[in-house]
Amino acid sequence: MEIGTGTRALITGASRGIGRALAIELAGRGATLGLAARSTDELRALADSLPGTHHILRCDVGDEASVREAVDAFASATGGIDLLVANAGITHYGPFRDQTAQQIRQMTDVNWYGTVFTVHAGLPVLLGQAAGHVVIVSSGAGLRSFPWAAVYGATKAAQRMFGEALRHELSGTGVSLTMVYPGEIATSLHDHEKDRMPEWYRGGPDAAPADALAKKIIMAVEKDSRAVHFPLLVKALGVLHGVSPRLSDRFLRALRGAAAAPRVD
Ligand SMILES: NC(=O)c1ccc[n+]([C@@H]2O[C@H](COP(=O)([O-])OP(=O)(O)OC[C@H]3O[C@@H](n4cnc5c(N)ncnc54)[C@H](OP(=O)(O)O)[C@@H]3O)[C@@H](O)[C@H]2O)c1
Repeated sequence: MEIGTGTRALITGASRGIGRALAIELAGRGATLGLAARSTDELRALADSLPGTHHILRCDVGDEASVREAVDAFASATGGIDLLVANAGITHYGPFRDQTAQQIRQMTDVNWYGTVFTVHAGLPVLLGQAAGHVVIVSSGAGLRSFPWAAVYGATKAAQRMFGEALRHELSGTGVSLTMVYPGEIATSLHDHEKDRMPEWYRGGPDAAPADALAKKIIMAVEKDSRAVHFPLLVKALGVLHGVSPRLSDRFLRALRGAAAAPRVD
């Protein structure tokens, strides 16, 4: 699918980070945007800074009615949806035994249910047009999960299996799907937990820029790529883990220290 003037793109989690960077890139190409998140002030400030006219969609992706209302509002205002990006996500890192049921449920609601609710609400519009593209922002943690990110990784792996199956299911419909597996990207994802990130986590100033990922996502949609891995090391880790989890343990220990894979099998 070519992205240009008039492309109608709805992005969840557009107020910050990867979603915001994608909105900026798409607006630069003349797209009409549906900017969805809970923080309407941030969305409004973003919309005001972008060329073109954009739609602010207040929604909580974990709430099916809320996300459906946002998707319907955008589709009826613009007459359709060409690009649907399920990007909104949250983390709560920490030892699983210390995580609260509320944190577990929140990650599941936003990352997993948020994704399926978004796609479930938008897909009939794309299928009705027999054209369009879905993007699902998963994580490297969906390819190989880490200590202290067991639930987060599980929600990201759920997105992966959902998206991989759906890409096949959509074959021949005119609608396609690209999975995105980011590594550590400089965003506000961990801002609420910076003081208690695990030892293996590097992130911070070493993290890759969100605008570079946004450009890769747009290229991938235009080429109908199955997946984007960024930085590329994420792909190496996923491949290695698929071939031999033991080898990927060793690789991670060499890369991030013993905290990344403490058990030696
Ligand atoms: N940054 C990384 O290193 C990294 C790595 C791998 C994968 N990812 C994935 O990339 C995606 C984007 O994350 P990010 O790094 O850009 O994080 P971010 O800077 O914290 O942005 C997250 C976005 O999601 C929105 N959001 C959170 N809860 C929501 C809800 N209930 N309903 C609607 N919107 C909600 C936030 O807006 P409001 O708070 O205003 O609602 C915000 O716009 C996530 O799925 C994340 O798992 C990130």
